[in-house]
Amino acid sequence: MEFLDFKNQVHQKFGLDLNSYKKKQLKRRLDNLLVKKKIANYGQFFKIITDDRKEYHNFLDYLTINVSEFFRDAKMFAVLEDKVMPELMAKTVDLKMWSAACSIGAEPYSLAIIMNELKPGSAYKIDATDLDQSILQKAQQGEYNLDAVKNISKLRLKKYFLEQSNKYLIKPEIKNKIKYRQHDLLADNYPRGYDLILCRNVTIYFVREAQDKINRQFSESLNPGGYLFIGGSETIFNYAEFGLEKIYPCFYQKK
Ligand SMILES: C[S@@+](CC[C@H](N)C(=O)[O-])C[C@H]1O[C@@H](n2cnc3c(N)ncnc32)[C@H](O)[C@@H]1O
Repeated sequence: MEFLDFKNQVHQKFGLDLNSYKKKQLKRRLDNLLVKKKIANYGQFFKIITDDRKEYHNFLDYLTINVSEFFRDAKMFAVLEDKVMPELMAKTVDLKMWSAACSIGAEPYSLAIIMNELKPGSAYKIDATDLDQSILQKAQQGEYNLDAVKNISKLRLKKYFLEQSNKYLIKPEIKNKIKYRQHDLLADNYPRGYDLILCRNVTIYFVREAQDKINRQFSESLNPGGYLFIGGSETIFNYAEFGLEKIYPCFYQKK
């Protein structure tokens, strides 16, 4: 089976559209995986992931690169905490927020920590979604190594985590603020009515057409005045087409 057939079969069988991922990057990663697993060709690989659900999930894990950490790009999170959140809080009391492609949960928990710092006890909602079910389970467990929490001050670490044999467990009062569910940015409907959407370090893997579709849908999901917060190595060049305005690096506001 050629790579192209593999992509089509995966789309048919699992509804996963690999055509939206950047081709060269994707092919290089998957070629490496086949070598690593001593799999002869894409036909054999397709059979493996079709016969064994666990293998399909391993494939998803590998494909989607789950790397994340708390307050990733500390400077941009400072803009979120010092400028964007106070502006949003001044306008709306019960903010609705969405961390899309949330990976291990470090991103939505960072947001909940900011909310607690700025307005303890305030009413707000944080939805957190990812394509990968197994990473959502990890996020729900809320257990991290030192590397994931390296951007957090000692004071906040003590306040929001329990330390247990070199692991940092997010405290229940923060954990309970997040509602996790599976969502595929490339295939599922986008919920609406958000004041803030974080979608960081994922669209970089997608082709331009898919990026445009995603950004258009995010804009439709935002309330007027709401913000989209993207990753430090991502840019939306045609933001005006989607009814967005660039306010700070990484932050786009719905008009
Ligand atoms: C590099 S992590 C980014 C995590 C976090 N947003 C951050 O910036 O630290 C990328 C995440 O995107 C998720 N992902 C990849 N393709 C996706 C898709 N089509 N829909 C939703 N999530 C996807 C992966 O499972 C992974 O958890």
